[in-house]
Amino acid sequence: MNIAVIGTGYVGLVTGTCFAETGNTVTCVDIDEDKVNNLSSGKITIYEPGLEKIFQRNQKEGRLHFTTSLAEGIKNAKIIFLALPTPPDGDGYADLNFVLGVSLNIGKLLQKHEYKIIIDKSTVPVGTAGKVRNTILQSANEAGIENAEELFDVVSNPEFLREGVAVEDFMKPDRVVIGTSSERSKKLLGEIYAPFVRQGNPIIYMDEKSAELTKYAANAFLATKISFMNEIAQLCEKLGADVDMVRRGIGSDARIGKRFLFPGIGYGGSCFPKDVKALSKSAQQASYDFKILEAVMEVNENQKVHLLPKIKTYFNNDLKGKKFALWGLAFKPNTDDIREAPALRIIDELLCEGASVTAYDPEAMSNVKKIIGEKIIFAANQYEALDNADALIIATEWSEFRTPDFNKIKSLLKNHVIFDGRNLFELYQMEDGGFHYESVGRAVVSQLLK
Ligand SMILES: NC(=O)c1ccc[n+]([C@@H]2O[C@H](COP(=O)([O-])OP(=O)(O)OC[C@H]3O[C@@H](n4cnc5c(N)ncnc54)[C@H](O)[C@@H]3O)[C@@H](O)[C@H]2O)c1
Repeated sequence: MNIAVIGTGYVGLVTGTCFAETGNTVTCVDIDEDKVNNLSSGKITIYEPGLEKIFQRNQKEGRLHFTTSLAEGIKNAKIIFLALPTPPDGDGYADLNFVLGVSLNIGKLLQKHEYKIIIDKSTVPVGTAGKVRNTILQSANEAGIENAEELFDVVSNPEFLREGVAVEDFMKPDRVVIGTSSERSKKLLGEIYAPFVRQGNPIIYMDEKSAELTKYAANAFLATKISFMNEIAQLCEKLGADVDMVRRGIGSDARIGKRFLFPGIGYGGSCFPKDVKALSKSAQQASYDFKILEAVMEVNENQKVHLLPKIKTYFNNDLKGKKFALWGLAFKPNTDDIREAPALRIIDELLCEGASVTAYDPEAMSNVKKIIGEKIIFAANQYEALDNADALIIATEWSEFRTPDFNKIKSLLKNHVIFDGRNLFELYQMEDGGFHYESVGRAVVSQLLK
């Protein structure tokens, strides 16, 4: 099948590459010329485990193409995925300008006898499929295209991939949600998704609005789980309980489940923050006061700076001239994505207090450099960041941070102090190692030593 993917970012590039991997001919379209030039010349533009290999293989075999021209991209495509940004607008609503702008142009490009399915893969508020349909139809009518309404269908097919495991998620999704009332679309989408659901994972067909809401409900629920655990962690600190124990205790209940119960310094990324906000705004628009979402957002904002009071207290409220090593910049491990990353908030706060920061991240440093330039120092590896630092702060749980050489850490740090926003280490390890160790929802190690 000929497929076009409009928008070649984290979702679009993974979608295009994975559909090429199952034998389709895919053209990815993006307005970013540099991105398209890099991709066309075989240079991958994002870090995503496992992607580069299949990207290169499919490009070499002539199934994966890149262009800046929408007309060229959709010319032969029966199926067009929109994987465009839907960032928050000034008021927190999802900004649909990218999606509707491209829809308008697709309308002008429709051709007689060439049926196309336009699929919203972007995360969009309820009612967007209808808006996309109207926009395409109106623009096709204005362009004088006859019987335009018979030339296309609009489908909602939200994407649930997780950055860091995006290829695996796309190739073996828990479920595929397809929102459409068009039998023709159901059949065609069923065909292209068949290779991905061979193990029996369901394709769930529903109406467009329910599909659109499913995506927001999924992300909002997961964000709620995180904020809930972060509040339990706060309470643990106040009451002297250990959040790791509580997590294990509740996670073994199948109704609760083990996943997404790890406390930390809050969720970030391009999805949870904007999607929770957008769902809350949608609810407001529908005159519904979605109380839980407000609390989820507030807890998360506070959680991002949860380590700061601990750090300040340890250094007697004077961080001026202090030097901090920071491990982790990406909003989570296995990605170079730094959108809404808690590490960026921590850096801001430390710099405001007059401290300096030397950071290391395996993949995200160049993205941070693009935003904050030389405001902090970037180290060549995790140990270089520690050199003569007053304390180590951990903001992202990359695997390579989990079992470091503690003796080396001690030899490099000025003070043997670690503030861990991701609870990477066992308390006894820190006690045996003679560290002052503060984490989230657990006892402070130096207090245990007293
Ligand atoms: N990143 C994720 O983990 C994830 C997961 C599920 C769903 N989503 C949703 O998918 C959508 C895309 O997210 P993303 O993370 O891939 O975004 P992204 O910012 O990484 O990529 C979007 C791409 O669209 C391109 N673009 C913008 N305007 C364009 C236009 N007019 N024509 C062609 N290309 C254009 C941009 O240059 C960019 O390359 C969003 O709605 C997001 O909420 C993201």
